[in-house]
Amino acid sequence: MATTAAATRTRLQELAQRHLWLHFARMGAYGEQHDIPIIARGEGCYVWDEHGKRYLDALSALFCVNIGHGRTEVAQAGADQARELGFFTNWSYAHPPAIELAARIASLAPGDLNRVFFTSGGSEAVESALKLARQYHKLTGSPNKTKVIAREVAYHGATLGALTATGIPPMRQPFEPFTPGGCHVPNTNLYRLAPGYGVENLAESIVHRIEFEGPDTVAAVILEPVQNAGGCFTPPDGYFQRVREICDAYNVLLISDEVICSWGRLGYYFGAERYGYQPDLITTAKGITSAYAPMGAVIATDRVFAPFAEGKTSFLHGITFGGHPMAAAVAMANLDVFESEGLLEHVRENEGHLRAMLESLRDIEIVGDVRGAGYFHAIELVKDRETKERFSREEAEALVRGYLSGEMFGRGLICRADDRGDPVVQFSPPLIAGPEQFEEIESVMRPVLEEAARRVRHGELAA
Ligand SMILES: Cc1ncc(COP(=O)(O)O)c(C=O)c1O
Repeated sequence: MATTAAATRTRLQELAQRHLWLHFARMGAYGEQHDIPIIARGEGCYVWDEHGKRYLDALSALFCVNIGHGRTEVAQAGADQARELGFFTNWSYAHPPAIELAARIASLAPGDLNRVFFTSGGSEAVESALKLARQYHKLTGSPNKTKVIAREVAYHGATLGALTATGIPPMRQPFEPFTPGGCHVPNTNLYRLAPGYGVENLAESIVHRIEFEGPDTVAAVILEPVQNAGGCFTPPDGYFQRVREICDAYNVLLISDEVICSWGRLGYYFGAERYGYQPDLITTAKGITSAYAPMGAVIATDRVFAPFAEGKTSFLHGITFGGHPMAAAVAMANLDVFESEGLLEHVRENEGHLRAMLESLRDIEIVGDVRGAGYFHAIELVKDRETKERFSREEAEALVRGYLSGEMFGRGLICRADDRGDPVVQFSPPLIAGPEQFEEIESVMRPVLEEAARRVRHGELAA
């Protein structure tokens, strides 16, 4: 966050301060003292602010600009579509771009995930999947199956339905009560395993929860292939295979929430492919268009779709802009870039370099863990590496908000310092990034983390 005298502010800064309401942001932190960062331009892995300062976008904006910034041909596909048909809805109508895109997604998704329901973003995709799971069970003779099991600290979206699955108490508390039915189990934080669990039996927590809630009441389990919130928790070997068995045994739908983990983020079109499991539903968004247009989707198997294909039944749910023709055309052009530039292969070939660079930071005493997969990694920061001692809430706040975020940004690096769980720094660069960008990340992170470690050593953390 830059600091300037209010008197020298640009017109844009003035207007932003007066009229724009930022998402998930403490607006009181700006005002007289601090400027709102205004990003004005992007090209490849880089963006520029309103003053012309360059930043390495090591977060792909928000885990979504997968093909990188400034791809005019992708935006052009939207403009070309607008000339033909700017908008028509998917409420009872089809149009060519939505049809072509649904067929293409079905051809890329694992197994018989053949049916695509479009939304405008990730929360709507999760919301739609939860409603779909409920209606599916009502149609197939299990009307009491309404609950959803998710994991602690997971983020599944901000709308009220999706929030029942989101497992981050501070994001839930201001909006309670929710629709009943959200239950949570331990996540796959292998650095800090939940009491009573080892890597071999983490999935059993889902069995315990289903039994506790009553198998007749549980509609779905929703999990990310690699959990974002908390800092890129990867699954242990065999975890998803066991989850699949559990879901089959209890007639519970497995929703793979791939709003981040699809479209190359883990080196595959879908995270489920990387970990070799077959979901009943995939929720996706973000990289589906590389964020050149807002779009999300729920992808359903033939089995889940079957009861909706009969008689007078319909999925009683719809969103005006779901499958917007311009967004669908942009998504098709985005996938063309994936194919022509071999982006999945590029990620698989280069993820080891990203990992090695982050591992090289382990000599800094506050680096407790390095984890992740593909172009989706995190560093967890600890007070004491030997004992894995955690920072207090106040210390984490001082570290993340009082130092790291501003310092990294000031040095031209956009990544995410997050304290929704223990403090982590996350990296999720555009899929076109390579060793040059990884070196640049290291050249910022090393001095910043060394200074953070010095402050921790000397008890100098102050918010
Ligand atoms: C796993 C997951 N699900 C759902 C969402 C919500 O997506 P959106 O912000 O597009 O509504 C997100 C957003 O980051 C996410 O990471």
